Order: sequence, then structure tokens, then C-alpha cells
Amino acid sequence: MTNFCVHVFGLALALLASFCNSVHSSALNEHHVALFVFGDSLFDAGNNNYINTTNDYRANFRPYGETSFPYPTGRFSDGFLIPDFIAKFAKLPLVPAYFRVKHGPFINGVNFASAGAGSLAETFSGMVIDLKTQLGYFKKVSGHLKQELGTERTKELLSNAVYMFNIGSNDYVSTLVSNSSLFSSHTKKEYVDMVIGNFTTVIEEIYKEGGRKFVFFSVGNIGCAPLARALNIQQTNSSGCLGSLQTLANMHNEALQNMITNLNKNLQGFKYSHFDFFAFATYVFNNPSKYGFKDTKTACCGSGPFRGFPSCGGKRQIKEYELCSNVEDYLFFDYAHASEKTYRLSATELWEGTTYVAPNNVKLLFQL
Ligand SMILES: *[C@@H]1O[C@H](CO)[C@@H](O)[C@H](O)[C@H]1NC(C)=O
Ligand SMILES: *[C@@H]1O[C@H](CO)[C@@H](O)[C@H](O)[C@H]1NC(C)=O
Ligand SMILES: *[C@@H]1O[C@H](CO)[C@@H](O)[C@H](O)[C@H]1NC(C)=O
Ligand SMILES: *[C@@H]1O[C@H](CO)[C@@H](O)[C@H](O)[C@H]1NC(C)=O
Repeated sequence: MTNFCVHVFGLALALLASFCNSVHSSALNEHHVALFVFGDSLFDAGNNNYINTTNDYRANFRPYGETSFPYPTGRFSDGFLIPDFIAKFAKLPLVPAYFRVKHGPFINGVNFASAGAGSLAETFSGMVIDLKTQLGYFKKVSGHLKQELGTERTKELLSNAVYMFNIGSNDYVSTLVSNSSLFSSHTKKEYVDMVIGNFTTVIEEIYKEGGRKFVFFSVGNIGCAPLARALNIQQTNSSGCLGSLQTLANMHNEALQNMITNLNKNLQGFKYSHFDFFAFATYVFNNPSKYGFKDTKTACCGSGPFRGFPSCGGKRQIKEYELCSNVEDYLFFDYAHASEKTYRLSATELWEGTTYVAPNNVKLLFQL
């Protein structure tokens, strides 16, 4: 029985009680699939609003969220993010930020993602919830579910659930914008192997806890984000994509592919969707008119070259910023994050596509 149901029965209202029953029985349903979300600003639904950090790692002010929310939620976009669309396609409620619903209910899943987070604890350390800490919170949720539902039903819920990850970008971007002794004291390959090694450990821990169905994103086109182009202009006068970041993204994505192959070989019952976000984003970059985009280089909101400075909303170091008049024209909403329209397109491809997602799209993964 969830806390929610206890509360509703406490009110002793027949109508609410029947609604509660339907929530309750859906947990019993063999085909009930929860969605657990891990990662960075691509997925953060507001966890960073609750931690001691700075506005560099937050988006809980206007104009963030304005397309689809009555108030800014902390999502780094003008509206919904990819996990919101996936929840919608799967007919689940929006998956809430963990810190907003710390005591549940958890039967539909929960979102642990934190803007700025990396696979390495060193990445933006002290400002974000790193991946290993996100895993720790997941284990708390698992314990909570066992108390409420019992071990058997929790096991069933966790093995039917989908676990979605976007992690890695910040491990690489952070090496450009702050000093990283870890990066400077290792080769690029060693550094990528650490990022992937820590990520692998987290997947294995979730598997041990009962998780079987995973969604992996390749690192996107981070060298082509407005921030990367702005840095490139400052450093080299070139307005192109930042090659050093593209190289790291490519190395990461190759290592990620190997990681998935090995997990698939070693973990019995392992099922997954691998979304080649890098390739999908590249395709959209190269075919903007196909998707009704007028500008895939400049952010809708920000300042400086390509509006690539992180000033959107005027609540970070830089107080002046520009806001575009039609966000639907833009691939990027701010210096490094896509517009809701881009996220809707990506989520649709991830959910039912056949070109950039393999071996299962997420719709199929939910049914497995
Ligand atoms: C939050 O962080 C700041 C700076 O890092 C620190 O000065 C402050 O004491 C912290 N506050 C809490 C409540 O931890
Ligand atoms: C990075 O480290 C170098 C040398 O250790 C120092 O001169 C520089 O100010 C540091 N930069 C930042 C952003 O901390
Ligand atoms: C995880 O990253 C740390 C650095 O944050 C590194 O020392 C450690 O070896 C990594 N673990 C794995 C399994 O790669
Ligand atoms: C960039 O261009 C400006 C003006 O064209 C020039 O003064 C400057 O030296 C250039 N900087 C670099 C790093 O090439």
C-alpha cells in the first residue's frame, strides 16, 4: 500500500478511494512499467532546486518552462524534456523529481537527474548530485518500496521498470570551463575509460537491485552547442563546432557501445535501447528545414556569439540576455540545452523510431 493510498483512505472518501484502488491495482498489474530517470540537465526535472548550489546549475526562473508550464520548474528548456514525453507516450504521470517526492509514491518511478552531473564525482563537485549519489537515492527508493509492497512485488516492479540514462557530457564540458586535475593528469582515453567505468558500475548495481531494462543515450553533439561555438570564437575566431569536444564525445560514444556490448554479454536478462543521440542531432543539424527549424546554431535565449553565454533569464553572472520571438524556429533553447520542440522530436524517435535507436525502441522496451 502506498503512502498516497493510506492518506486517501484516511480521508474516507469513497470517490477518492476508488481512484486510489486503481492506482493500487496498477502496482499489482504484471504489465505495470515504472520509469526511473538518471543523469544531467537533459533530464533534471527540478532536483537542483532543492540542493545547495548556484543558479549556474538551476533553471527555476523565467523564461525557462514558459512554453508548457505555468511556472518555471527547474527544467533546462522552454518546456517539457525527453523523459516527460516518454512518460506521456507510456501513459504514465510526469515522473517527479526525487527531492519533491522524497517519501513517495514511487510505483510509477522517480527522477534522480541533476543538472551539471557527471559520471565522475569530481565533475562540478559540490554543486551537483553525481551519478553515484543518484544511485544511492535509488537504493533508498528500492528500500522504501520493499517496506510498502513487500520483497516479491518490489522485485517484480523493479524488473519491469525502465531505467533511462543521459550522462557523460558534463565530464567533458567541465574540463573546458574549470580546472580538472583528473583530466590533465590522464590521457583522453584513460579519462573516457574512467567515465565509462563508473557508469558501468552504476548499471551493474541497478541490475543487482533487480533492474533489467535500460535506455542509454550517446553523448550528443556537445561541440556544436552555442556555448562551444562561442568558446571556439573566443579562442580561435572560428565559428565552427569545437573539435576537442567532438573528439571526446566520439571517444565516449565508442566506449559506451563497448560497455553495452559487454553488459549484454555478461548480465542475464539484460534488455536495452541504445539511442544514438549524436547521430540523430547531426541529422537534424544537417536537415533543419525538414523539421521546420530556421536556426540550429544560435540559442533562442542568451547573449554573446550564438547567444552562447549562459545568461538566459539574467539570474547568473551575466544579467543581460536576448530572447527569440519564436522558439519553434530554434533547435537550442539556451547555451547547451535544446528547445521543447527538439526534445519532442528526439523523444518521438526514441519511442517509436527504427533508425537511431537499437536494438529496441523504448515503446518495445516498455512491452518486453
Ligand atoms: C551552501 O554553499 C555555500 C557555498 O558553497 C556555503 O557557504 C553555505 O554554507 C552552504 N549552505 C548550506 C546550508 O549548506
Ligand atoms: C587553473 O589552474 C591554473 C594553474 O594551476 C591557474 O593559473 C588558473 O587560474 C586556474 N583557472 C581556474 C578557472 O581556476
Ligand atoms: C571512477 O572514477 C574515479 C574518479 O572519480 C576513479 O578513481 C575510479 O577508478 C573510477 N572507477 C571505475 C570503476 O572506473
Ligand atoms: C581574431 O580576429 C581578430 C579581428 O579579426 C584579430 O584581431 C585577433 O587577433 C584574432 N584572434 C585569433 C586568436 O586569431
